[in-house]
Amino acid sequence: MSTLHLGLEEIAVAESKISSVKNTSYNKNGLKVDLVYFLNLLDHYLTANPYENLEYFIQQASLAAYSFPDYIKELLMNFKTYGNEDGYLLFRSFPYDRSLMNTPVNIEEVREKKKTFYSEFWLAAIARFLGEPFSYIQENKGNIFHNVRPTYNNKDMLSSESSTILLDFHTETAFHPYTPDFLSLFCLRSDRHKEAQTIISSIRYFQDDIDAELERILRKPLFKTGIDYSFGSVNGMRGNGPTIPILYGDSRDLLITFDPDLMRGLTDEAEMAIKTLKKIIDKHKRAVVLEEGDLIIIDNRRALHGRTYFKANFDGQDRWLQRLYISRDLTRANILFSKSERIITYKFDREISCVSNSSI
Ligand SMILES: [Fe+2]
Repeated sequence: MSTLHLGLEEIAVAESKISSVKNTSYNKNGLKVDLVYFLNLLDHYLTANPYENLEYFIQQASLAAYSFPDYIKELLMNFKTYGNEDGYLLFRSFPYDRSLMNTPVNIEEVREKKKTFYSEFWLAAIARFLGEPFSYIQENKGNIFHNVRPTYNNKDMLSSESSTILLDFHTETAFHPYTPDFLSLFCLRSDRHKEAQTIISSIRYFQDDIDAELERILRKPLFKTGIDYSFGSVNGMRGNGPTIPILYGDSRDLLITFDPDLMRGLTDEAEMAIKTLKKIIDKHKRAVVLEEGDLIIIDNRRALHGRTYFKANFDGQDRWLQRLYISRDLTRANILFSKSERIITYKFDREISCVSNSSI
């Protein structure tokens, strides 16, 4: 396999960091990974280019994942099977891409200019313990690794490309028949002033605040989702997606699909339930500031996430995350769409045009 040719300076940085990474237990600040150990994994396994041979790249990342330390494998396996209280897992200080290109304006630049693929590699490796990476044809032009960065054109939109607005609590792609079980984010470049907070609210914290009557309403299919702007809908259009219940699953282990910015209740009672639930979710907010090398995995069925406002300068040094969606397996895609595929091609043209025509 390849040799990374680490410079002396990089090795010194790695060694100084590893000396402070003695504690391998997971706590509220996440888990700092052993930098030297993970640099060695890169050195041993990574040769493929994810933008040229994705399946081979995923295979290499999977092999590296099997060599993760046992305590990390155990954390990930337990998270997949049982979830956890926080609704997320946070790993700090993965080796990240040095000499990084500017934060891209157009995502095509990444394929051309990004010289190393550490961020993609860790995202794919971690996914091995949770399921299968997948994406949608509408997201990031069908790329499996999404580049989440502020863009000038979408700075005020309800979109991951925004910066001037609070991206309020939601579960990912709530309107879609095929939602991620998990989403993971890797920070390549934090915002200058570390203002951007990833906010999370876990149902394990707030389910005791949901009384029996509220749960009864939220379990009914009374909630019209709204299709995301990035999937071709008008920005902020509510209720043009499928109708769903918000809560489902075992009452002792509730699961949730919720996006109040784009959702509307079909009855007054349902509208009230959205407002009440939103207050409960806000009350249990936690925040994480992601820094370079951090990787967070969010349980998309047990936790809601969002992002606070931050200042973007659009000068190539803005915040840049890569995001990966994970499905427990791809069989469900085959069942729903009669296609076994990583890139889901289902389109919402009919739903979007129906609402546009009816509102004329
Ligand atoms: Fe999101």
